This record gives sequence, structure tokens and C-alpha cells, in this order.
Amino acid sequence: MNKYINFEEKHGIFHLKTENTSYALKIHDSGHLQHLYYGALIKVINDSIIPFNQEFNQSVKHHDTKLNFSLEELTLEYPGYGFSDFRESAYELELKNGISQMEFTYSRHEIYSGKKSLEGLPAVYYESGDNTESLEITCTSNNGVELILKYTAFYDFDIITRSVLVRNNSVNPVNLTKLASCSIDFYNSDYSFLSLTGKWGREKHVKRQDLTAGKYSIESRRGISGHHHNPFLAVFEKNCSEDSGNVFGFNLVYSGNFLSSLEVSQTEMLRVQLGINPFKFRWKLNPGETFQSPEAVLTFSTLGFNGISQNFHKVFRKRLCRGKFRDAERPVIYNNWEATYFDFDDAKLENLAEKAAELGVEIFVLDDGWFGKRNDDRSSLGDWFVNTGKLQKGLSGFAEKLSIRNMKLGLWFEPEMISEKSDLFSAHPDWIFQVPGTKPCEGRYQFVLDFSRKEVTDYVYERVSDILRNNPISYIKWDMNRALTDVFSRELGSENQGELFHRYVLGLYSVLEKLNCDFPDILFESCSSGGGRLDPGMLYYMPQTWTSDNTDAGERMLIQYGTSYAYPQSSFTSHVSESPNHQINRITKISDRINTAFLSNFGLELNLMKLSEAESMDLKKTIIKYKKSRKTVQYGDFYRILNPFESNYSSWLIINNVKDEFIVFTAQLKTESDYRKIRLKLKGLDSGRKYMELNSGKIYHADMLQNAGLPVDFDKGDFSSKLFFFEAVD
Ligand code: GLA
Repeated sequence: MNKYINFEEKHGIFHLKTENTSYALKIHDSGHLQHLYYGALIKVINDSIIPFNQEFNQSVKHHDTKLNFSLEELTLEYPGYGFSDFRESAYELELKNGISQMEFTYSRHEIYSGKKSLEGLPAVYYESGDNTESLEITCTSNNGVELILKYTAFYDFDIITRSVLVRNNSVNPVNLTKLASCSIDFYNSDYSFLSLTGKWGREKHVKRQDLTAGKYSIESRRGISGHHHNPFLAVFEKNCSEDSGNVFGFNLVYSGNFLSSLEVSQTEMLRVQLGINPFKFRWKLNPGETFQSPEAVLTFSTLGFNGISQNFHKVFRKRLCRGKFRDAERPVIYNNWEATYFDFDDAKLENLAEKAAELGVEIFVLDDGWFGKRNDDRSSLGDWFVNTGKLQKGLSGFAEKLSIRNMKLGLWFEPEMISEKSDLFSAHPDWIFQVPGTKPCEGRYQFVLDFSRKEVTDYVYERVSDILRNNPISYIKWDMNRALTDVFSRELGSENQGELFHRYVLGLYSVLEKLNCDFPDILFESCSSGGGRLDPGMLYYMPQTWTSDNTDAGERMLIQYGTSYAYPQSSFTSHVSESPNHQINRITKISDRINTAFLSNFGLELNLMKLSEAESMDLKKTIIKYKKSRKTVQYGDFYRILNPFESNYSSWLIINNVKDEFIVFTAQLKTESDYRKIRLKLKGLDSGRKYMELNSGKIYHADMLQNAGLPVDFDKGDFSSKLFFFEAVD
């Protein structure tokens, strides 16, 4: 007997349950799958949930004449185009004979405990003991093609995952030109949506839009998820707040071109879809072959945006991130990039290391410039050999110096790229993406390696793993600094070029999988000119990401707030950098830079040799405090409090799961002459308990902090911030 996925045979209704949510669909009398419901838990679902058809004049009737209905009148589970539905289809297939309209109807299903992994793709996983069940529904067409709709209900996480597998059982090849990972129809469209948008240095800014007639799309055509958009989408009822109201959350476990789209139909029903972007996508499926879509992750909460964020945080932290670092306290790192850029040698690094050790840093991450002849960004990507001119004692020599000071070595790589000026390019000029007969476009003076080719990914694996085997490296920063262009592979036939964007991602995932398996003791940080590829796909291989190249505290007050909608604080990193800031020249106090970086994976990225005595002392004390509270910081529950996109303040709070320790960050963006004092209403505390604020020693009742608010008196000056540490005293 299944506990979380139930099939009621009489009406053909499937009901997937999580602790607080229900998801229901039905086999319609025509054999199509009809979507019935997604939302707050309904303990028992029966046929009374079946909605009226949205009938309207002039509808074209489905060819199943005895039923007298139109597909356009229904909320559908995985719709195709044509045969009476004119909304966006979830799939597009082309047969050899030119037929491109195909309908799929229910054939069989299977419900089982746990979850199977998706071959070659990252996905939310199941651990034994979890209350998790899966459903696979096979739908067939009369052309020998099958669609297998996969669902998993993660009861303990309030998460439903969905993906689709296509199998070509026919005797001819089939071209797949669209395959959404999920499609979901809402019975009405009285919703708004929230997405994370931006650009380099300004990632994850929060945008809300009302839905009216028409279509909306959030997408990437850059080969990476991108700085400009992120696959994450929240659909919410009007008047929702951070803490109340019905919100649906969607994300895609994928790192390449994606499309997250919304469509309001003529009868004001809403269709939401997420998947690989159909733009330039064309996958040839030979007889007997299958194609697996990436996985969509869905959640729902009645507790507003914080509700869905906490659901995503929990499942990404515990069932997407893997390996020994999943639950481990993450180290305090020092990164030399903004201190030295390419200009370093043994002596300079050792001086920085000595100072970093004094401050309490645990890992020294040596950034760009340690390999080939790389003294600026114009050369050497691909030549992953230590530059012993710069590092005369090699990486091992430097690691030894670190080890004496109780620090470990981390290393920067950008393995997906190649510089024109490199030995690798001289040897293999044909390994890049290039449209025959045209000069490839350069981005940051570099070309993109064709990761669809095994010899290329083998080379990359061999080089990276050779460095890792021969040097004591504990941390990798895996960078990727340009979008894909010239997307043509010399190795693929003309019929397969439309597969290349996706094959690139699969090639990348295969290298990362192998590195994860072979080097389980290395902590990976992903980076794509900052947060250009912070997506659930990357989190499966690398549990943390460099959030943004913009290290200015003021900008980070927005970027980190936005990032927290979709991603847990353990997945993003923040460094205290220099002032004036290198990206935007803003001057901020060191305390504001510390406060803003504190509630995530904390690090330093500034010239330590220029620190004043007082600044060194501040950083030293901060790192001691951070180490003491980092378990709460990295793995506690995150609450957004004040929204910097809608007010002059930014604020968030993290509380541990037993609710006896929490930390609050708050900042006033622009100083105002007489309005520097606020009362900050805290959230998520154990009401009834008393807490002491550790800086002042004052004791507060939780109710008072949550209802009347913590009095905050900001210092004068823009981006003035405060960090408050609380502990329960009873
Ligand atoms: C990218 C990263 C930076 C730094 C440089 C090195 O821009 O985002 O943090 O590593 O590359 O070239």
C-alpha cells in the first residue's frame, strides 16, 4: 500500500501527497491526462475535485466525437499542440513523414517507493528512510513513440519533482524539438509572478509582474543559466507577503539554455512550463533510443515567499548537494584575486598567507594566474600546468607553507575554455565551437571548448585530475567566464547540430561527476563571472557558488537578498573586499562589509598587507565569531525580513533548528537625517522564550521581538548595517 501516492481507479485519479501539499491529476475519459489540483493539502481527494470544463463558443471539438469536448477547455497535465488545444505545447516531435502533431494518451503506470536517478543528469535524490514515493505514467501515441511522465513526492520536504522521458519505439528516427520538464495548468490566472533577473555584477534582482493576457518567458540562450535570468519562478496569489499567502515555486535542475514560461489563455487559465529552451534545440532520436529531460522541482506554501524559499533551501541543501561537504561546516577562505590579480609570486603569496593565518583563515584559494604563461586574461586557458616561473616551489611548495600555518590550498580553474594564445590551441585549434568558414567570437579573449567531444572532456579531466593527484588541493573554484557562441561542432553530423547546446551541458556534467567521485575530499565552488551559473544543476556537483563578482557591500545587500528566494545561504559565498570597491568604486566601512558577508559562506578577498591594525583586529574577531556560529549561519532557517527592492532597508535572519540561537542582519541603504531608528519585527523565533542579544547583554521576550520589534539605531552614512547575535536564556 502506497502512503504518499494514491491511485483511485474508479475515476482514474492520482493523488500525490507531501506533508502540507497535494497534487492531483486524472485520466480523462478521452485518455488524455487532466491536471486537477496543486496546492495546500487535501487529505482525501475524490471526483468532486474535477473542475467544470471551461466551455466557450467557437471551440474546436476534439476528434473523439462521443465525448463532445475540446482540449482547450481542460487543465492538462502534459499537453501537445493541435487536436483542439492552441496553447503552448509541452513537447514537439517531428516524424520522418512530416507529421508533427501527435497526441499521447494514458497507457499504464507504476508507483514505487523511493526514486530512481536520472542517467547523466543531476537530480534531487532519495535517501533510505525518506518518506518518498514515485509515479511513472506511460503515455503512448499511435506512432510508436512513448512519453513517460515521472513524478516523485518528497513528503518530508513539501517537494514534487517532475521529468519526462521520450522513447522512440518506432522503426524511423524522430526529431524532438521541445520537451518541457513540467507543464502545469491553473484553473484561473489571478496570479502574479516573481523572477530573478540582472546582469553581470547585479545578479538575482527581484522582479514582480502581474499576469494579464499573453505570454511571459524567462529564458537563457547563452548556454549557461546566466546572470540575466534564472530558471527559478514563483507564482503567487495577489496580496501575498513574505510570510503569508499561497505561493508556488518552480526551478529546474539544469545549467544550460532553459525556458520558464507562463501563458494566460483566452479563458484566463494559466499554463506554466519549465524545461530546456526549445530555441535551437533539435534532438534526433533513432529507433530504440530515449531522451531524458532535466528535472523540474515544484513546491507550494501557504506561508508566503519565505515558505517556498525554506522548502527549496531544505531540499537543495539535503537532497541535491551531495558528498561529505553537504552537512559539513564550510571553511573560511581567503581568495587572492582582488589583492593581486595576475601579479604574484611565491613571496607575495607567502606574505598574504602569513597574514591570512593570523586572522584565522582556513583555506587559501589561489585564483587565476598560476598556470601556463598567464599574466593577464589574454592567454593560457587550457594549459593547466603550473607556472614554475611564478611559483618556483610549485603548488606543493606553497601548500607546505600553508600547512605549517594550519591552512589548506584551494585552486582556480576555468576548464571549459581555451585561449587562442595557448599550447592547447596550437595543438588542437579544432577543439573549439566554431561555425565553419567564420572567425569564432571571442569573449574575455577566449573561446569555448567543444564539451560534446569525448577527447576534449577526457583531456580536461586528465589535466585537472593530474594537478589534483600531484598536489594537496582541498578546494576548487571552477569558473566559466563567457557565454556560448558559434555553437557548431566539427564532430557532429548536420542532423545533430541542434543537440549541441545540450550535449555541452551533458559533457560538463560527465566531467564533474567523475571529479566528484574521484576526489570526494575536495570542496567545489562554482563560478561564472560571479553568479552566471548559480542553478540547481550546478549545486548537485558543487555545493557552493561565488554569488557575484560585485563585492560591494551595498550591492550585495540586494544580490544576496534576491539569491535567497531560490538558494540556501550554504550555497553562496561572500567575501569582505576592499574599499573603495574594485567594481563600483564605492566606499564602505569595514564593519558594513563584514556584516553583509557574515550570513553566508564567509571569506576575505582583499589586500591583507594594507589592513590597519584596527581592521585586522575586526577581521580576527569576526572570524572567531563566525566559526562559533557557522553551523547556524550555514544550515539554519533563513527568513527575509525587510525587502531592499521595495524599501530603504535590507534585512534577514537565520535561526538554528532548535531555535536557541539566531543572528539578524539589517541595513539602511540610504541614510536619512531623522529616520535612522526603526523597529525591526523579527520572525521564526520560539515565541514564549527569552533571548539575550549578545553585544548589548539585553534580554528580550520573543513575542516582543516579533510583535513590537527590535529597536535598531543605524549609524549615519549610506549602507550602514548592524548584525545582532541572540541566544535563548531559558
Ligand atoms: C572571474 C571570476 C573572478 C575571478 C576571475 C579570474 O571573473 O568571477 O572571481 O576568479 O574570473 O580571472
